[in-house]
Amino acid sequence: MIELIEVTKTYIGPNQTNIRAVDSVSLQVEDGQTLCLIGTSGSGKTTAMKLVNRLIEPTSGTIRVNGRDVREHDLIQLRRQIGYVLQFGGLFPHQTVAENIGLLCQMDGWTKQQTLERVRSLLHMVNLPYESYGSRYPVELSGGQRQRVGVARALSLDPQYLLMDEPFGALDPITRHQLHDEFLEIKQKVQKTTILVTHDIKEAFILGDLIGVMDQGRLVQIGSTEDIQASTDPFIQSLLHNV
Ligand SMILES: Nc1ncnc2c1ncn2[C@@H]1O[C@H](COP(=O)(O)OP(=O)(O)OP(=O)(O)O)[C@@H](O)[C@H]1O
Ligand SMILES: [Mg+2]
Repeated sequence: MIELIEVTKTYIGPNQTNIRAVDSVSLQVEDGQTLCLIGTSGSGKTTAMKLVNRLIEPTSGTIRVNGRDVREHDLIQLRRQIGYVLQFGGLFPHQTVAENIGLLCQMDGWTKQQTLERVRSLLHMVNLPYESYGSRYPVELSGGQRQRVGVARALSLDPQYLLMDEPFGALDPITRHQLHDEFLEIKQKVQKTTILVTHDIKEAFILGDLIGVMDQGRLVQIGSTEDIQASTDPFIQSLLHNV
């Protein structure tokens, strides 16, 4: 389970003003559940997610993974069990696609052969055949292809938890649809506890067991698709307007 309890992250902005990037957010994602975070640009989604794997430390509040405060986890162990898909893919530019995906396996002491097999099967899963894409560099890929490599890399060590920052953002509707199906299939097979950021409320309804709506650092509402659809909050109403 992933839990945030009264978590706030404040940055000091120009003229010493406080930017409450994440403002008193409390939420729970049960084992096997997917929470989709949705909100306007700058509402604190990426910040909220980076607090979970300790890329960012909170100003106040507590974050628990698997029932334990993240500060009590060994940092390497914590990150190993949390796959992270960065916004825009976040690939290492000087490594090939295969090297990017296999990096964590190599660091984990897998043999070359084991790593190669894993890379092949992950690339197959995201519809980028190893033969055509394995030896390319990120700059030689489209934005959507880079995102898919980012998803493959996050899954490489078969982590129990997944943080996905707009993983399907740059994809055309057809590929997006395919990856949604893949995602739901994986979810059925292996119960991963996931937080996924999206700008697309329809995507949130398709993929999320829970939907969290953020606005200016605050979690406006968290609940099921039905809860969100029934909301009378004006901000949520405006999000729903596009569906
Ligand atoms: N290192 C930083 N220093 C100062 N302010 C920051 C920093 N990182 C983020 N912020 C601010 O915190 C707020 C939340 O940023 P965050 O990246 O979490 O938004 P987001 O919801 O992920 O937006 P987007 O949808 O555009 O990715 C923004 O106002 C941003 O400018
Ligand atoms: Mg973001």
